[in-house]
Amino acid sequence: MNKNMLAIILASGALTLSGTALAGDAAAGATKAEACLECHEPAEDFEGMTVDELTASMKSIVSGQMKHKKKVTLSDADIADIAAYFATAK
Ligand code: HEC
Repeated sequence: MNKNMLAIILASGALTLSGTALAGDAAAGATKAEACLECHEPAEDFEGMTVDELTASMKSIVSGQMKHKKKVTLSDADIADIAAYFATAK
């Protein structure tokens, strides 16, 4: 293996890791979203919504800007994880 190839592999590895941290953890989100599934069927209720849209919706729910049937308290990390889960639960 030449030096350039090694550099490329290392660089792409670093990108993957930082991407995961930013995007939220769908597996953790599945656990955190258990209380939401009582009312929500993610594949139906959030169909077609992107991670960004889900994040924005949850932030406005938590801040009280958007009316929601149940008061929910979620940290930014919870929101990122749940958004990742809802966006993949199709
Ligand atoms: C007691 C029932 C209930 C529970 C529990 C519940 N929700 Fe909801 N949620 C609703 C209802 C009802 C709506 C409004 C649906 C509508 O009128 O379109 C809603 C709407 C939403 C929306 C807005 C979707 C959009 O179109 O923008 C999001 C996001 C959401 N809920 C996330 C959550 C999350 C995350 C949890 C768990 C922390 C949760 N909900 C728990 C009843 C619930």
